[in-house]
Amino acid sequence: MVKKILMVCLGNICRSPIAEAVMIETIEKAGTSAEWKVDSAAIGDWHRGNPPDHRALSTMTKHNIKYNNKARQIKKQDFHDFDYIFGMDEENMSDLRSLAPPSSKAKLLMLGDFGLDKGDRIIVDPYYQRGDAGFEKAYQQCVVACAAFYEQAVAGKI
Ligand code: 4NP
Repeated sequence: MVKKILMVCLGNICRSPIAEAVMIETIEKAGTSAEWKVDSAAIGDWHRGNPPDHRALSTMTKHNIKYNNKARQIKKQDFHDFDYIFGMDEENMSDLRSLAPPSSKAKLLMLGDFGLDKGDRIIVDPYYQRGDAGFEKAYQQCVVACAAFYEQAVAGKI
């Protein structure tokens, strides 16, 4: 059975596209692409159909990652279709918990709870920050967290 991962943030144009791309890269490097499906979505609907913020795209390009997905809003069906739904910060987690139908199959997890230090577990929204340092920071957090989650998942620990 293919395991499905959905990366979620507020707008689906900054953090969750990076998290999606890094998770795909992590899985590809492990040679297990056939066993996983990775997507991303937003809490809000403001950026539906749009590509990521140019700073998210340039951060991915800098790290040799291709990205072609477009923003979409999370929907009820996602909670039945996906095995793991990740938020980036506490606000995302609280929104996900209130959107989840009672019969939700998905495990709702905060990405930074995997592999990151306690003080570094929030993947901060870089959208309103000037420049692209916040995007690089989010990328680096995603690299560590995706690898740590993947390791736990294949070991059957999560
Ligand atoms: P993201 O960043 O949640 O990491 O995609 C944001 C992008 C857009 C908005 C908020 C956060 N916005 O309010 O439009």
